Amino acid sequence: MLNPRLDLLSDYPFTKLRALLDARPLAPHLKPVNLSIGEPQHAMPEFVTTELTADLSSLSRYPTANGSPELRAAIAAWLNRRYSLPEALIDPERQVVPLNGTREGLFMIAQVVVPEKKGPKGERPLVLMPNPFYQTYVGAAVAAGAEPYFVPATAENGFLPDFAALPRDILQRTALVYLCSPANPQGTVASLDYLTRLIELAREHDFTVAFDECYAEIYDQVPPPGGLEACMALSGGRITADALKNVVVFHSLSKRSSVPGLRSGFCAGDPAITQAFIKLRNYGCAGLMMPVVQASTALWRDEAHVEANRALYRQKFDIAQSIIGNRFGFYRPAGGFYLWLDVGDSEAVAKTLWEEAGIRTLPGIYLTRPENGGEKAGKPYLRVALVADLETTREALQRISNVLGR
Ligand SMILES: Cc1ncc(COP(=O)(O)O)c(C=O)c1O
Repeated sequence: MLNPRLDLLSDYPFTKLRALLDARPLAPHLKPVNLSIGEPQHAMPEFVTTELTADLSSLSRYPTANGSPELRAAIAAWLNRRYSLPEALIDPERQVVPLNGTREGLFMIAQVVVPEKKGPKGERPLVLMPNPFYQTYVGAAVAAGAEPYFVPATAENGFLPDFAALPRDILQRTALVYLCSPANPQGTVASLDYLTRLIELAREHDFTVAFDECYAEIYDQVPPPGGLEACMALSGGRITADALKNVVVFHSLSKRSSVPGLRSGFCAGDPAITQAFIKLRNYGCAGLMMPVVQASTALWRDEAHVEANRALYRQKFDIAQSIIGNRFGFYRPAGGFYLWLDVGDSEAVAKTLWEEAGIRTLPGIYLTRPENGGEKAGKPYLRVALVADLETTREALQRISNVLGR
């Protein structure tokens, strides 16, 4: 007997991609380049190795469930610096939850905040997410026994889901909303005004907002605002008991510091939520390995490597701009590291690019669900992750341009 809810999950995008491409022969002269997955290939800072290997004797002990006091303090200090928050807003002991990467936290948060029933009629709760979306959101909703509800993020609405326009009965049934800013895949940055309105909506209908801010440090011009900053804007900068009510933000070192294999991130926010989360983690989650805790502490304290990393992404968008120009709906995203190209039939184009150029890209349709008119949010688009080094990126984009330009 298996959990029947799992039937609601389709194959993961990369499983679909393997089925689409792997049976196809690649011309022997083509060196394959993988731009389908958002896995940064930049060099990680050198001090990571030093920190990781400084005390391997810690491996002979179970790690604590919630990182170390130093890690939690480094995270709180980073949040304060990054979002100009008042120092006392985040209590590192109660409101910071270190995670083995944000994916596990984004998944587990649904277990923390989704009740059995929601709304005046006591119906099955809804978990809202943008469409297209990071796939963990739907897995989390389904595993928590909620109904996933997809809200289109299309060119017409500036790639930002309009949650406020949803019918009242939907909002009343909502237990959790995921918002990704900068957005994967479109790179859209939600304004402070958008964030505050979403938080007001959450408080009006009593749902949690999980702000997925994994790409917050990869931006073009202006640092993207965040959920905690929006809470402060709403409270007029005052730290009240309810200042962070219904809000939890997620951050990752994977993109910020190019260490996706380290598995390190955190969430922070509403103490009622973080406390419940810490309690649940004791039951079902592994603590971070202590060498990871030590390396992560050093990474959150350092900004120099983050600036260098950001500069590399900017250079790659310069290259993309010069090679792709104004074709295929190219635009320079405000944040993140993806191109979201309008190519018509993205599955067919992904196939052609693999066979004729040796480039792996991801059809947008694999990141979307058809519900609520979702097809047009994904089907025409191709996601190209600018994760490789400069030269590889230049060569790959040139090959894409040559094939698509024919
Ligand atoms: C939007 C988004 N959220 C969360 C994650 C998870 O990142 P990690 O688990 O590496 O912290 C990713 C990774 O690709 C992502 O694209």
